[in-house]
Amino acid sequence: MTSATTSTTTGTPALLSVADLRIAFPGRNGAPPARAVDGVDLDIRPGEIVALVGESGCGKTTLARSLLGLVPPTAGRVLFDGTPLATSARALKAYRKRVQLVLQDPSGSLNPRHTVYDAVAEGLRIHGHGGDERAAVAGALARAGLRPPERFFLRYPHELSGGQRQRVVIAGALVLEPELLVADEPVASLDASVRGEILALLLRLRTELGLSALVVTHDLGLAWNIADRVAVMYLGRIVETGEVEQVLTAPRHPYTRALLSVLPEAPGAPVVLTGEPPDPSRIPGGCRFHARCQILASGEAERAGVATACRTQDPGVLSGDGTAQVACHWAHAVAGTEAATPAP
Ligand SMILES: Nc1ncnc2c1ncn2[C@@H]1O[C@H](COP(=O)(O)OP(=O)(O)O)[C@@H](O)[C@H]1O
Ligand SMILES: [Mg+2]
Repeated sequence: MTSATTSTTTGTPALLSVADLRIAFPGRNGAPPARAVDGVDLDIRPGEIVALVGESGCGKTTLARSLLGLVPPTAGRVLFDGTPLATSARALKAYRKRVQLVLQDPSGSLNPRHTVYDAVAEGLRIHGHGGDERAAVAGALARAGLRPPERFFLRYPHELSGGQRQRVVIAGALVLEPELLVADEPVASLDASVRGEILALLLRLRTELGLSALVVTHDLGLAWNIADRVAVMYLGRIVETGEVEQVLTAPRHPYTRALLSVLPEAPGAPVVLTGEPPDPSRIPGGCRFHARCQILASGEAERAGVATACRTQDPGVLSGDGTAQVACHWAHAVAGTEAATPAP
């Protein structure tokens, strides 16, 4: 590493790299297409945990699924280890051994008629695992915190707690020794008491196995606990990204500020966003957030001289390279003023 300013993550080649990804779903009954993902750049480096946060409907699940080749992009591309995601079924099968998806609802991902052993062994069978299946299943269950693993082999999902079921799902992902885990709201359906345990498990896996992960969540507290880096998504775009501590303690985008202001521990009054809830089939011109922006509504953007830009100029797609960035005319104008103020 040559530069003292280079963090431990930037500069390392990305394991996964998303470049100007766009995914539109056809509109129903003549409605315009829904641009669920509307220009996203995002890199994930080896061993890095990135949290993707944003309100329901902003495109998180669509983006996550596209990383596994489950939703075809309308434009742009996904590179894994420097290679574009294949489209043939055979190549995708090989890819899905290296990248695993963990879903929100563990009951939905487990077949009620399959034992824990069969649920975890399924991936090995699909991918024609040559080694000792029993040992691999036991190892994965143990790593997922189900110990002693043999005690769980013949249990059925209904005999387990929600937390244990989520551990079985995670064991099923781990058994293939993936390099990247994509977890879509991995604890959203769990009780608060087991949420912390599953988070601790995900963190331990990163330390023990060097796993990289994209963790999708609408919960900023969870992002804070688990991620190195956070990407805040609004209407199909990442509008702010950076190291988790920086973004969550000194948010620059008005949308990030609004999300943080409604957390129970937040100081001050919650920011109430005006305007209609975001609709990906009608993305506003200019800054896509402008119609709901508290900074524009309060006149602060006007005072910073950017109100017209907010209404008419798209702040553009942020680079996915892991550096701190914000897509906001006002944040850039204010940062410019701060930089120009002479030090006392
Ligand atoms: N298969 C689909 N067909 C049409 N619209 C979809 C489809 N999947 C998602 N969408 C729309 O795309 C937008 C983003 O959805 P989603 O990715 O599930 O967001 P999130 O996970 O952030 O809640 C939503 O407006 C949703 O209605
Ligand atoms: Mg979702």
